Amino acid sequence: MKNVAKALLGAVSMLAVTVAAPAMAEPKAEVLHYWTSGGEAKAVQALQEAFKARGGTWVDAPVAGGGGDAQAAVLRARVLAGDPPAAVQIKGPNIQEWAEAGALGDLNAVAEAQDWDKVLPETIQNIVKYDGQYVAVPVNVHRVDWIWANPEVLAKVGADVPKTWDEFNETAEKLKAAGIIPLAHGGQPWQDATVFETVVLGVGGIDFYQKALVDLDMEALGSDTMVKVFDQMRKMRGYVDPDFPGRDWNLATAMVMRGEAAMQIMGDWAKGEFAAAGLEPGKDYICASTPSDGGYLLNSDSFAMFNVSGDDNVEGQALLAELILGTDFQETFNLYKGSIPARTDVPRGEFDACAIKSMDDMVAAAEGGTLMGSMAHEIAQAGAIRGAFIDVVTAHFNSDMSSTEATEKLVKAIKLAM
Ligand code: BGC
Repeated sequence: MKNVAKALLGAVSMLAVTVAAPAMAEPKAEVLHYWTSGGEAKAVQALQEAFKARGGTWVDAPVAGGGGDAQAAVLRARVLAGDPPAAVQIKGPNIQEWAEAGALGDLNAVAEAQDWDKVLPETIQNIVKYDGQYVAVPVNVHRVDWIWANPEVLAKVGADVPKTWDEFNETAEKLKAAGIIPLAHGGQPWQDATVFETVVLGVGGIDFYQKALVDLDMEALGSDTMVKVFDQMRKMRGYVDPDFPGRDWNLATAMVMRGEAAMQIMGDWAKGEFAAAGLEPGKDYICASTPSDGGYLLNSDSFAMFNVSGDDNVEGQALLAELILGTDFQETFNLYKGSIPARTDVPRGEFDACAIKSMDDMVAAAEGGTLMGSMAHEIAQAGAIRGAFIDVVTAHFNSDMSSTEATEKLVKAIKLAM
């Protein structure tokens, strides 16, 4: 009898175990992203490996095309077809738009477990929260207003990295006269817009950037200052080589590496390319912020988790979120990517001088009120407004349109898009 009871008890407890712990779903995630260049691929590979190491099945869905415009079209089509990917690399107001449309799941459980409210700066929290809930997980902070320079090439004309826009023009003229391409640039609309916003920040000033690109103040948009910004853009057009149309940003970075061009204006994903090529800052290349009065143009990548069915997907999303904001992963990923961690408590020891400058400048800019969201990289604006800016900037850059005409067109385009 005793034995029967024992056997029964055993069976019951086995049953209890089975009931209490149903077979765990295996984490799975289809990840839509546009990280396909050398440094980007290494960074996303690190995430993939961490996910796999925890038993996850990663379904890779890369869409080549810097700045993410090609990916945005794919995402819209997938959501419309009722088949969204589980995790998507989106950012800024796009996150709010998708959340408002009811497309995103919340990440509050992971956020609470990892205390995101404590470890993320408020600027970043505001980007990835909708209605007080975390709906995306931030990966990094990328700074946009950088000059990447080849010191040997600059030395050929006895120049250092320019500290003012006048100096930039003087150096560029000297380089041109010496038969050197001053500015490595890829003629794609988002790259034109990247250069444009650094000019708005430096030539127009911080308040002007805020009014024109963030607040969409019509007076600022149509002002003489904007005319001056387009004048500088016209000069910049004269500093790029004739083969620039359509060139990918990483190929422009390679021109600086090879000494074919002196400088590139690009966010610090360019540093990921230098790092992937084994080059060292301060020695093989120089990073300097584009001339401005203490400004910092902020861009931050994040992954939003779209509403998808299936326990495996839900587990995959939670696992991804947990991994992405883990301290170790924040270090590994950002060392490859050229960015700095989204978390404020990651040890600085492994990061290079450019990253440390970015960290310090970001804190100083936040304190001084000079931390601005990037328009070109979808933090200050997204959707139709960003599109309107980019259309006019590109139309001006690729034609002989006057600065006055460009300014008038900009006012009209933004009014229409609002
Ligand atoms: C993204 C970066 C990316 C770059 C080039 C930026 O908008 O934030 O993560 O590396 O575009 O594609």
